[in-house]
Amino acid sequence: MEGLADDVLREVLTRVDGYDHAVTEFIRVSGSVLPARAFRRTAPELQAGSATSSGTPVRVQLLGSDPPCMADNAARLARLNPAGIDLNFGCPAPTVNRHRGGAALLDEPELLHAIACAVRKAVPRHIPFTAKMRLGVADTARALDCARALADGGVEDLVVHARTKADGYRPPAHWEWVGRVADAVAVPVVANGEVWSADDWRRCRAVSGAADVMLGRGAVADPFLVRRIRGGGGAADRDEEWRELLPLIGEFWLRVLAKVESRHAPGRLKQWLGLLRRNFPQAERLYGEVRAKKDALAVGHVLACHGVPVLKAAA
Ligand SMILES: Cc1cc2nc3c(=O)[nH]c(=O)nc-3n(C[C@H](O)[C@H](O)[C@H](O)COP(=O)(O)O)c2cc1C
Repeated sequence: MEGLADDVLREVLTRVDGYDHAVTEFIRVSGSVLPARAFRRTAPELQAGSATSSGTPVRVQLLGSDPPCMADNAARLARLNPAGIDLNFGCPAPTVNRHRGGAALLDEPELLHAIACAVRKAVPRHIPFTAKMRLGVADTARALDCARALADGGVEDLVVHARTKADGYRPPAHWEWVGRVADAVAVPVVANGEVWSADDWRRCRAVSGAADVMLGRGAVADPFLVRRIRGGGGAADRDEEWRELLPLIGEFWLRVLAKVESRHAPGRLKQWLGLLRRNFPQAERLYGEVRAKKDALAVGHVLACHGVPVLKAAA
């Protein structure tokens, strides 16, 4: 998730067992073939077998609208041996959409088909080739056309974020539409949108009929959701989980400090805590104390006071 789930968060979240794979933020393709370092910047995991250190495969996502250019970039990316190549037809951001990228293309199934065909030809068969789409731009009228265009173009599975671009991120997600898409195409369809709890996961699968679900913000807000889903969805012991989370927050903080300028580090922590506090009262308290702090040292001090192991930062 662009600006949210980068390599740092993927690394930390996948310490908790249970994900089949992760997908990078989108890499925007326009006009030229990107150098290898551009792919590695978004997907440093490419240098480690395209997996996080706990072994979760990381697929790399491309976003663009020009079929030959997308194909050339996919071919370049394929040479870096990604665990998969995914196409983004879901991003609703105006800056991206203005340049004909992401969900803005969902009015043009013919173009989706042309992009998928071109990329399919460029990606060797041993690399999974997938796509992610929303239900449409303003409405769902062309959702099935878009899904068929991508499946006929050769994508091997399709994630459906069950909202239109116009819906933004507003609940609800229309899980029933995932089932309609699945009935229209012969490839596996994965449901996505508004799965925040094991109960949401159960209802999403029941309503959509999909076997597989992609977690978005829910996995960031509850790092143990994947484990609870795998384990049958028992009640969460938030105190115990918080104790387990402290070293992960510490690792996140150290990795963020190593990656970004220190003035940007507090913002990254606040962003994660902002989501964690949906589930953890302890995160709410921590968030309250770091919210006004702009200095990384001061934030590190607050973290240490809350039992987050951040010794390396202080050394
Ligand atoms: C900040 C943010 C950035 C996102 N960036 C991407 C992206 O780069 N690629 C992508 O396929 N989806 C992206 N998404 C969409 C999510 O992957 C997911 O489809 C969406 O949030 C719906 O799932 P959720 O309700 O479980 O979060 C992003 C979402 C958010 C909130």
